[in-house]
Order: sequence, then structure tokens, then C-alpha cells
Amino acid sequence: MNIDRIFLIGLSGSGKSTVARLVATRLGWDCADTDLLVEQAAGRSVAELFAEEGEAQFRYREQVALEQVSRLDQVVVATGGGAPTTPPNRDAIGRGFVVWLAVSPEKAASRLNSNPDTGDRPLLLGDTRARLQQLLDARRSIYELADAAVDVESLTPQQAADEIVRLWQEAKERGFGQEPRTPNGHQRPRLVSLPSPLRPDGVAARVITPLASYPVIVREGVLAELGERCRDLGLTGRAFVITDDEVGPLHAAPARKSLETAGYTAEVLQIPSGEAHKNLRTLEHLYDHLLDARVERTDFAVCLGGGVVTDLGGFAAATCLRGIDFLHVPTSLLGMVDAAIGGKVGIDHPRGKNMIGAFAQPRAVIIDPAVLQTLPERHLRNGFAELIKHGLILDASLVARLEQVADTPAAMASEELIAASVAIKAEVVSEDEREAGRRTLLNYGHTIGHAIEAVTGYTEYLHGEAVAVGMRAAGLIAVELGMLTRDDFDRQQELIAACGLPLRAPGLPVDAVLDVTRSDKKVRQGAIRWVLLEGLGNAVVCDGVPDDVVRRAVETVLA
Ligand SMILES: NC(=O)c1ccc[n+]([C@@H]2O[C@H](COP(=O)([O-])OP(=O)(O)OC[C@H]3O[C@@H](n4cnc5c(N)ncnc54)[C@H](O)[C@@H]3O)[C@@H](O)[C@H]2O)c1
Repeated sequence: MNIDRIFLIGLSGSGKSTVARLVATRLGWDCADTDLLVEQAAGRSVAELFAEEGEAQFRYREQVALEQVSRLDQVVVATGGGAPTTPPNRDAIGRGFVVWLAVSPEKAASRLNSNPDTGDRPLLLGDTRARLQQLLDARRSIYELADAAVDVESLTPQQAADEIVRLWQEAKERGFGQEPRTPNGHQRPRLVSLPSPLRPDGVAARVITPLASYPVIVREGVLAELGERCRDLGLTGRAFVITDDEVGPLHAAPARKSLETAGYTAEVLQIPSGEAHKNLRTLEHLYDHLLDARVERTDFAVCLGGGVVTDLGGFAAATCLRGIDFLHVPTSLLGMVDAAIGGKVGIDHPRGKNMIGAFAQPRAVIIDPAVLQTLPERHLRNGFAELIKHGLILDASLVARLEQVADTPAAMASEELIAASVAIKAEVVSEDEREAGRRTLLNYGHTIGHAIEAVTGYTEYLHGEAVAVGMRAAGLIAVELGMLTRDDFDRQQELIAACGLPLRAPGLPVDAVLDVTRSDKKVRQGAIRWVLLEGLGNAVVCDGVPDDVVRRAVETVLA
């Protein structure tokens, strides 16, 4: 992997050739176009080669061209639309920084149709838009393996080139190429989130674990499509909508209606709302209801609510009759960007929070940001902490986008930003379902945050509020250790403050908080494993942070 080599991939009509030239000019590099290289080598056009030799032979010629350019330095390569579809081509492209130019089939077709120079495209004969849609459907999962994606739908080629150079610089600063690749040979894509037209089904991310693969759908109004979505998933039995007594009266009716319209028999089961009820007693009531209703293995649960409902409802579904299918339909922001994704389900025990539970993945996560209109403001702000955290640990561009809208809660909780945040969580849990490695990064701010929650008996601070204070403490530690610049720390704090989250938890006993951090689940063989930032969007796990550094940070945030 060499960062000084950029490959552009994407549909025909996405503007790869033009943008490649512009990026090369900006960086002072060479530029190559694999279709042109093939044509020059063969002395015939791509259309002629397809007609005379067929697609397989063309791909072989393309592979030869890609092999050559993928060993050059300081080159920007525009690849053919189908280039990444073969494994050898993917290997060659994987030697550089890969950017997907994402565009809708409509836009690509109109660009191709209005440009007489684009020539005959053998795979696009007939209805260009329809063919491009088919090609996008077939190739989307491959394009998504890119290191970055740029939505070029409404960008000029110049703007697209600027964005690519910016992403390339960011990747270079992050140390691109030094990170290990995942087992399939590709780095996970770090996608900039795509606007809705490019996510026709609203699929913002997929979680892929060893035993499950499921979509996370983020779309305004999707609650009304719940029934259809369940049909798409092949669910056949009765639907049990598990919700709480605050969310139920507000949102269960449209969910039920949609399920019934799609032909399901739907029943709504309500539990009392709040953390105090995330316990064995409520779980038992839920089992009683399900068993009284003679639930069957083909039936499924829809967990409609905040993190309490998705945790408890998911656990009930995962254990009743040894497991029935379930979907999460989170209705709090914290539930959307955090609790519903990743398969942790469970309940609290008098000895501690989330002490009883399991890993069980839902069939889908369906997020309708419109339901946030009824979420009390304090709970909305609570979710901002996790949204911000995802940017801080892994995506500096998300931090920049959040900074632009941080003083407008509705904009912070927009479909686009939720989708971007969700994509980060999905990416991390896909790589490390059981928290053996990278998933630990999601605990940024949680070591001190959990301690603050525990010391105050989980009553004074909401989880996100405590995490916000914990992120400040972790930031102070990283600054003192020389890992994080003061400027980056200030940006973190300004963002947290602009969202209306607390910066301190005054009056708590320092020693009690420090004691709890030592019994935190991130402690391994006696040493606390700290998640710290080395820059915005770049978190690492550190052992051996000196006690006095931790104490100073804790004293500051509790002052
Ligand atoms: N499984 C995980 O990976 C994971 C991750 C983070 C948090 N969690 C868990 O999530 C829980 C916290 O989640 P939470 O903050 O969503 O708490 P919550 O479920 O208690 O929801 C907060 C409050 O908002 C109400 N509410 C939710 N959506 C609403 C809406 N759209 N309109 C009006 N009211 C609404 C709820 O009834 C509740 O009163 C904790 O139990 C925590 O342990 C789990």
C-alpha cells in the first residue's frame, strides 16, 4: 500500500478521467487512464475489444495495464467502471489509496448522454440509466471497499478533486498504509457518508460479523415502511413490538399499522420506561407475555425504543425459545448511533450495569430520525456525546462537519450525520464483534465516564453526559503525555460545549472515582487500558498511563 498512488473507482459517468487529471495537476503527479492504456496497447477501442474478444479478455488486458501502473509512484489512475470486479484487479488497485467517486445512475447517465466524447460503452447499450443502476447494484459492495468515497453528485470536477486531495492528505497524516489490512486483504473503507439519493434503500452501513450480516437503514420516514422492510428480510411469522410506556403511545401505532398493512399480525408489548426497569423482573414479564401469546420460532420481535428497550428486548428475543429473530428500531439518538448497533444485549443486575447479557445480532437496524422530534432535549444532547465520540476516535471529517452545526440540535441529529456516525460504529463492530481489539476504541471517555455514573448511582448523569466529562479527562491525559496538541484538545472541548454537554462533574470524591476506574472492565491484568487521542480522528489504546497524570486529569474535571 502506497499513499503516493491514488486509484479512482466508480461508475462510468462519475467523472474519473477528468477528476484524475485535476488531482494529478494539483499534486504535481502523473495521470493514467486504464481504458486508454488498454486501447493504446491493443490498437483498438474498448467497444471493439468487447465485441471481438469478450469481457473476460478485456479484463485480462485491463489487469496487465493495472499491474503496470500499480507499481508506479506519484500517479493518479482513473480505472474502468468494472475494473475492481476481478480479484487480480482489486489486488493491483489495493496497492494505493482508493477513492470511490459515488454518483447516482441518473446523474451518470445524463453526463454520458450529454458528452459525445465518451464513445461507445459496451456495458451500457440500451437504456443507459437502467444499465447503470444494474451495474451499481452489482458493484456497490465492491466500490464500498474503497478507502474513501466522495459524493460527486453535485460537485464540479474541480470541487471533487479538492475533496480527494483533502481526504488523501488526511489519510497520509493518519499514517495510511501502516495499518494492518483486514483478513480479506482490504482495509475497511472509511466512507464519507453519502446523501440519500446514493443510498436508495437508505442503507447507511452493514454490520458483518462471523455469524451475521445485516443492514443499518437510516432514513426519514422509514418507520412507515417497517412492514415492507420486514417482508424484504423474509420474516414470516407474527410481529411482537416491544416498546416502553413513553415511546409506545408516541410511535407504536405507525409501526403496528405498517406491519399490519404488510400482512403481519402485530402485537404491542409495553414495558415501563427507564434504566430502573432494565432488570430481571421486567424481562420475566416480557417472557410471560410472549409465552402466553404462544410465541413461535418463526415469530419476530421489533424493539422500538431507546437503549433500554433495544438492550432488554433484544435479550428477551435472543433467549426466548432459544432465540427468535429481532429488529432494532431505536428511537433515542443514543440508541441510534450506539446501543442498537453491534449486538450487545442484556439487563442490569444489582451488582452492576449490563452484567447479564449476550452478543446477539438483529436482522436489521431501522432508524427513522423523524422520531427524534419527540425525544426530550436532554436525551437528544445525551446522544450527541456518542455521535461526537465516533468522529473524535476515527473520522476527523465528521468532527469538522459536526463543528459546523454544533449549535443547532436538529442539524446535529440529521439523517446525514446519524448515517455517518452509524457507519463508524458498524465498521468497528464488524471488525471486532467481541471487543478483543479495535472495538475498545469505542470506549473513548468511558473509563472516567463509567466511574462518574457509578459513583453517582446512575441517577445524576446520563451516560452521554458522563462520557462527555470522561472525554475531557482523557483529552487532558493525552495533552499531558504529549500525544494530543492543545489546539486539537480545545476543538474537542468546544464541540462538546457547543452541544450543551457538561465539561465537569463538580463535587464528586476524586478517590472514589479513581477506585471505580481501577475496577473498570477495560482493566486487563491490573492495568487500565486507556483510549486516548493522538489527533482528531485518531484514537489508540494505551497501557501504563502514570497514576499522577490520571489523578490530575480527574481532579480537574471534578473541580
Ligand atoms: N448495547 C449497547 O451496545 C449499548 C450501548 C450504549 C448504551 N446502551 C444502553 O442503552 C441504555 C441507554 O439508552 P437511552 O439513553 O436511549 O435510554 P432509554 O432507553 O431509557 O431512553 C431514554 C428516555 O427517552 C425516552 N424515549 C426514547 N425515545 C424517545 C422518543 N423518540 N420520544 C420520546 N421519548 C423517547 C425513553 O422512554 C426514556 O424515558 C442504557 O441502558 C445503556 O446501558 C447499550
